[in-house]
Amino acid sequence: MARGDWWRHGVIYQVYPRSFQDSNGDGIGDLRGITGRLDHLNDGTPASLGVDAIWLSPFYPSPLTDFGYDVSDYCDVHPDYGTLADFDELVRQAHRHGIRVIVDFVPNHTSDRHPWFRASRSSRDDPHRGWYVWRDPRPDGSPPNNWRSLFAAVGSAWTFDPATGQYYLHSFRREQPDLDWWNPEVREAMHGVLRFWLDRGVDGFRIDVAHKMARDPDLLDNPPELYRGRPLPSPRRDEDWPEVHVILRDFRRLLDAYDDRMAIGEVGIFDPARVVRYFGTSLDELHLVFNFSFVRQPWRAEAFRDAVDRCEALLPAGAWPVYTLSNHDTPRARSRYGGEGGLPQGEWVEGGMPPSGGDSGLGMRRARVAAMLLLTLRGTPFLYYGEEIGQADGEVPPDRVVDIDGRDPERTPMQWDGTPGAGFTTGEPWLPIGSEARTVNVAAERDDPRSLLSLYRQLIRYRRGSRPLLAGTYRAVGHEPGIFSYVREAGGRRLLVALNFTSAPVRLDAPAFGLPPTGVVEVSTDPDRPSGPVSLAPLEVGPDEGVVVAL
Ligand code: GLC
Ligand code: CA
Repeated sequence: MARGDWWRHGVIYQVYPRSFQDSNGDGIGDLRGITGRLDHLNDGTPASLGVDAIWLSPFYPSPLTDFGYDVSDYCDVHPDYGTLADFDELVRQAHRHGIRVIVDFVPNHTSDRHPWFRASRSSRDDPHRGWYVWRDPRPDGSPPNNWRSLFAAVGSAWTFDPATGQYYLHSFRREQPDLDWWNPEVREAMHGVLRFWLDRGVDGFRIDVAHKMARDPDLLDNPPELYRGRPLPSPRRDEDWPEVHVILRDFRRLLDAYDDRMAIGEVGIFDPARVVRYFGTSLDELHLVFNFSFVRQPWRAEAFRDAVDRCEALLPAGAWPVYTLSNHDTPRARSRYGGEGGLPQGEWVEGGMPPSGGDSGLGMRRARVAAMLLLTLRGTPFLYYGEEIGQADGEVPPDRVVDIDGRDPERTPMQWDGTPGAGFTTGEPWLPIGSEARTVNVAAERDDPRSLLSLYRQLIRYRRGSRPLLAGTYRAVGHEPGIFSYVREAGGRRLLVALNFTSAPVRLDAPAFGLPPTGVVEVSTDPDRPSGPVSLAPLEVGPDEGVVVAL
């Protein structure tokens, strides 16, 4: 395999370790559990999903106030999840399965229990004081500026610490103090963290809030309009500061000293023109940058086409797209698309968005179309665990709520089978098992050719063998309302992908936009559609159907 092929052409699957598989009955997923489920992900045969890499959300020691995105030791494993030896074994077994391993790197903030912060808050003279952002109150005692936490429930991004009479900055919870990346000692220490995991054999990093690390060193106020519910304005002063690109170039140099490793950044800013800067002016920063447009828009063909076309137009030459339907911060794809879909476009906030409900049958049909979209676009697809079976958001009663920001429903345990613990645990699960687990689960779907899991397996396999899908060009064609259609082309082979976003049949007159009058059906989301020759003059696309046709 050529350098860089695996993260350009592979399918990457996000594992939320706490919810994937419990191996010891304590109700909490763990690393050994993940190792035991690698066959589901890729056993080298068509029986498995066939993914090429996993991204593990944080499994480091942490007080878990933000479920591991509050790290108290970057170079160890939380006892809930196992030990470093378990991690090494997971990497070894994953590699034997042909699965690369990406770990989460959380550089913007630590836990307030991290020894660095404990030292930093102990006195104004402590050598670690300058590792975090400390400032005097304003004369009236109020916080140094108007910056707010990305968790709406938190309010100000500053917390006063009476022990030393200053405020410290936290872009998220007050238990997550922001590091000061202007300090060279912080950079050095965090480079050590990257090397620690690279030396253990990880294949890459997902960089948490990669745009946050650098901010205005003068700590001036953000434009007040920012906090009035409009997706404006850039630039803001608490993130996306030019120095962040220096920091990311340093990361890249460090990674490039190893063989074929990669970094993907979570860049949570609205302006796509600023997001693409994270590839670097000469592609010398992040290998990949998440594109969250599919998560934040309604289920409409036009919205999806615009998002893809915008991405294709803005990407710097040589940069590679990334698409994703959901993650641990957003309602699950099936629940979101089953309703109106799309998240509000105000100030960027974490999670906290209720799914818009909707008929679950419709959500499941749309999840099939979404799967075809994700796996046939030009770019790297990221799947979220459970998405392959159409797992819906779980119901979490008020007395079981554990996340500050409403994200529990999308984090409920993986549904492996129809037993009471869903095959996830023999104990009491840390979050309730989804109410549909008896029917929507891996065991039930594995042998059902009509299931979403079977469609995912089919699409991933088909993609793996298709030059046009792996590496071909992308061009949107036809603009019939309700349908998103495009051509992928490589080495003289052409595919037409037609996705019907409506629940009524639509007709696509392919010759009207220069395509041949007939083709061959390769894959359809409708298990009843026969493969083989088909007329394209017009192509009849069924309600909520997606189809791939060879031209
Ligand atoms: C990222 C993570 C999210 C976390 C936040 C703070 O957005 O995906 O889960 O709460 O950063 O680390
Ligand atoms: Ca466990």
